[in-house]
Amino acid sequence: MPQHSSASEETPVAKPGSGRDRQSAIYSAGVVGITPAVPTSFAGLERAAQKVTSPKGWAYVAGGAGEGRTMRNNRAAFDRWAIVPRMAHGGATRDLSVKIVGTQLSSPLLLAPVGAGQLIDPEADLHTARAAASTGVPYVFTNQGGTPMEEAAAEMGETPHWVQLYWSTDEALVDSLIGRAEASGAEALVITLDTTTLGWRPQDLTLGSLPFAQGLGIGQYTSDPRFREIVADRIERAKEAGVASDVKVTLQALRSLISITRNHPGSFWANLRSPVPRASVETFLDIYSNPGLSWDHVATLRGRTRLPVVLKGILHPDDARRAFDLGVDAIVVSNHGGRQIDSSIASLDALISVRGAVGPEPTVLLDSGIRTGADVFTALAHGADACLLGRPYMYGLAIAGQRGVEEVIANVVAELDLTMALTGATDVKSVSRDFVVPNPTWPGVV
Ligand code: GLV
Repeated sequence: MPQHSSASEETPVAKPGSGRDRQSAIYSAGVVGITPAVPTSFAGLERAAQKVTSPKGWAYVAGGAGEGRTMRNNRAAFDRWAIVPRMAHGGATRDLSVKIVGTQLSSPLLLAPVGAGQLIDPEADLHTARAAASTGVPYVFTNQGGTPMEEAAAEMGETPHWVQLYWSTDEALVDSLIGRAEASGAEALVITLDTTTLGWRPQDLTLGSLPFAQGLGIGQYTSDPRFREIVADRIERAKEAGVASDVKVTLQALRSLISITRNHPGSFWANLRSPVPRASVETFLDIYSNPGLSWDHVATLRGRTRLPVVLKGILHPDDARRAFDLGVDAIVVSNHGGRQIDSSIASLDALISVRGAVGPEPTVLLDSGIRTGADVFTALAHGADACLLGRPYMYGLAIAGQRGVEEVIANVVAELDLTMALTGATDVKSVSRDFVVPNPTWPGVV
């Protein structure tokens, strides 16, 4: 288990909201010599998280596609805009709440689905769910978590959760996962469209590391009745065909076997004697996503779930129009945190053209590149209804577990609140395009 800092030496985290309360808590703790264990800047967060994360964990979570150009584009797009605050506006209080496809949000922020969090902490999904519950910030459960969605949902208290789904090649598995999402109390279903296959990720490739091949990040599948049926069939067919294991016995192969065995539900020793854990990994890799995913698949969703449908991974205005023409409830403009295609358009740039194409009404969220409260403000100014936060909370998790996620959330919301206070925006809707201009000093002051 990662060593997280001790609670007694930490600054209190109140429910996020007032930026001034958050500042006061930190500065008051500072008076008695306590400084935040979880850095308040993104650069500090990243440095501290890397120190406590394994090379494979870091490659997966911090890494991106190709040469990392999409991740850089995501950040550069924010740098190209500058906030222009208004003075003497008289707004002493603010309302950060917003309703998105029927889900009440205390602030325009949700926790993004991040797969294979077990690389950071064996209980990543549970810590994150607890932090979401205690801060009241909704959590989009990842389809590639280590924990079945029912267990994470049980930690959410009054805080809403959404469930993310990759479209499997097995349609019955799609239905099973949708049914479980509904039964778990999810308030929306988020279909990720951009990962019909994994992108080219040199950091992982260099280490030969794919978490799923170690049995990490497949907990939604190994707990699924339809998935288990498929695995049982596979084992049966292999038996009939007399297919023998062709894995070379090396130290790493043994380590992988132990990881797969340990991460499979049930007792380690029973799993070790069973073909099911390895067959589950192979089955997952074969069927978790559908390279042939098309709008025809998407069109079936309305008849398959009563939940609001959110499509994640939209970057082109025509795709955005098409999504809304099909009757989806919302889209998430996202390039998957720069993890899928190198040199892809920045999510913020895509947001600007998507919002221009669909007009002011449809619900459009932004994911990829959000690091701070000021980023959320800029995204809102360009027409995002809310934003998804990804790597920053994973770094908080690495540094201090549940508490780390709570602190990161509190800091981002605090900075958003203070940015609104200092610019004169009194609620989320009032954060308009009038507050931003192309940054006159971009690409940088010498
Ligand atoms: C999966 O969602 C990934 O980005 O690895």
